[in-house]
Amino acid sequence: MAKKKMTVPDFRKYKEEGRKFAYATAYDYTTASIVNESEVEIILVGDSLGMIMLGYDTTVGVTLDDMIHHIRPVVKGAPDSFIVGDMPFGSYQESPEQAIRSACRILAETNCDCVKLEGGVEMAETIRRMTKVGIPVMGHIGLTPQSAASFGGFRMQGGTPETAKKLIQDARAIEAAGAFSIVLECVPSVVGKAVAEAVSIPILGIGAGPDVDCQVLLTHDMLDMYGGHKAKFVKTFAHIREEMVKGLNQFHAETISGAFPTPEYSYNRQVEIPPLDD
Ligand code: KIV
Repeated sequence: MAKKKMTVPDFRKYKEEGRKFAYATAYDYTTASIVNESEVEIILVGDSLGMIMLGYDTTVGVTLDDMIHHIRPVVKGAPDSFIVGDMPFGSYQESPEQAIRSACRILAETNCDCVKLEGGVEMAETIRRMTKVGIPVMGHIGLTPQSAASFGGFRMQGGTPETAKKLIQDARAIEAAGAFSIVLECVPSVVGKAVAEAVSIPILGIGAGPDVDCQVLLTHDMLDMYGGHKAKFVKTFAHIREEMVKGLNQFHAETISGAFPTPEYSYNRQVEIPPLDD
């Protein structure tokens, strides 16, 4: 039986009911259809596609057109999942007007369910303006990869009383501005718990410990498809890369030995080949 697709109001309802849910990434039609077939409720088309799909070192080079190009096939492949379209670096930081224009392009050109953007208190006014015109916004605080360079790379956030307090202020400001949920990335578990208790919208934790409302992981990380760096918070749930290499090596070996293709994998109709003129 197909799962029931979540809606924006369900996020708050799930939090009130203490019902946990899960959130994974996809950047293409096939992966989206696989996540859709699983029980995972939410799919993020994240700008992490810059690293995972395009081989960049960071997310900063990903464009609005790149995002739209990848969100469209995910929407097509996952009709029963709630789909989040990430706003890339440079598409919303300039002004609320720019953010509204970019979000409208994402929603109208892909038909995804909401947009996500990074930033806390400093983005609250932008989020307020966006939600006021009917754009569903998911926030993202803690480790915000688009600005990782300004805090010295991909590292844990909220590790001091002051920075932990700032994260709570960020979450409250975003909630007050109208965001319906917040991704909280790479913080100590006690901070994850404190942030989740400080707001009434769900906290979607990635490396934020067990006491948040939802767990987020990149599909290519948790299924061990991506060969690059893996953060401490990533648990491996399957070894897909190893299985793929194994399958490819078997294909190679059977090609070299002539064991593939057998008649089972060939078109066996007998055709009389006429003599050639020359
Ligand atoms: O782009 C992404 O995949 C994300 C996750 C790290 C939450 O923003």
